[in-house]
Amino acid sequence: MSTQPIPDADTLNLLVRQVRYEGRGINSYELVDENGAALPPFTAGAHLDIHLAGGVIRQYSISNASRERHRYVIAVLRDERGRGGSKALHEQLRVGDFVRVSRPRNNFKLVEGARRVVLIAGGIGVTPLKAMAHELEDAGIDYEMHYCTRDAKCAAFSDEFESMRASGRLQFHFDGGDPSDGLNIRDLLHAPGDGEHVYYCGPGGFMKACADAAGHWPAGTVHFEHFKAPERSVDEHAANDALDSFIVRIASTGQEIEVSKEESIADALASAGVPMETSCCAGLCGTCKVRYLEGEVEHNDCILGDDEKAEYLTACVSRATSKILVLDL
Ligand code: FES
Repeated sequence: MSTQPIPDADTLNLLVRQVRYEGRGINSYELVDENGAALPPFTAGAHLDIHLAGGVIRQYSISNASRERHRYVIAVLRDERGRGGSKALHEQLRVGDFVRVSRPRNNFKLVEGARRVVLIAGGIGVTPLKAMAHELEDAGIDYEMHYCTRDAKCAAFSDEFESMRASGRLQFHFDGGDPSDGLNIRDLLHAPGDGEHVYYCGPGGFMKACADAAGHWPAGTVHFEHFKAPERSVDEHAANDALDSFIVRIASTGQEIEVSKEESIADALASAGVPMETSCCAGLCGTCKVRYLEGEVEHNDCILGDDEKAEYLTACVSRATSKILVLDL
């Protein structure tokens, strides 16, 4: 956050025009160009990297309709047990401040050609799905949205959602803190329709419930985004085949770089003078995605589809299970 714009070709300095209380612990932030200029376009599901004080960068999904070119609206849940980004943002960002943000990036796009779409939001995972609901509404595509929270006070954007709720497109599900009293996701997803796609985003337990319930849906019809890296079980850690250290070879130069147990591929490359852009450093955003030409990979990310994993890895979290990994750099 700053009060003075800092020009940078890759980022935008945007004015915080409005901060709104949206629900318990949730603020929305409306970011605009100081002179009212149109912002770079985005599509539903896109996120921004928000640059915080101290070099901290966090990703937040854009929640408003992509037809709106004059603003990005993000919503941030203050997470007392998180890594500190949401707390810092709540405490530091005020109306009238400038904030440095990346251009929008999208790893969670609506697939073209769907006949019907089911959107399921858990908690603050509602932000990308709200943008999707706007885009589907504008495109005249049949959809239904389910928004799961603890209670009405924890639900963000109630005013904006009112027309969707009144039309029957949106249903709220309040579980009082016990998921078994909330939406029955298994029932909801038991029979995928022809041309139907499902999108979901929310906390860990919710993501697992959706993944289990959609396990029988046809390939390519289930789409999701984690906003936090899922915790890995002891069994998953035990099944980890990645080597403690391995060699990365740069295909264009033949340079070989050792990656030790303590560092990521991205870190090792940076130390060897091969900079690689990173953002979330948690396998969530795709900024460090790179093609590999040889070698075996343990992926560890939350964004690459199975088809992409045969060709790409994320340098912030992927490890090698073969002694040499050749990167297309
Ligand atoms: S930096 Fe975000 S996936 Fe690697």
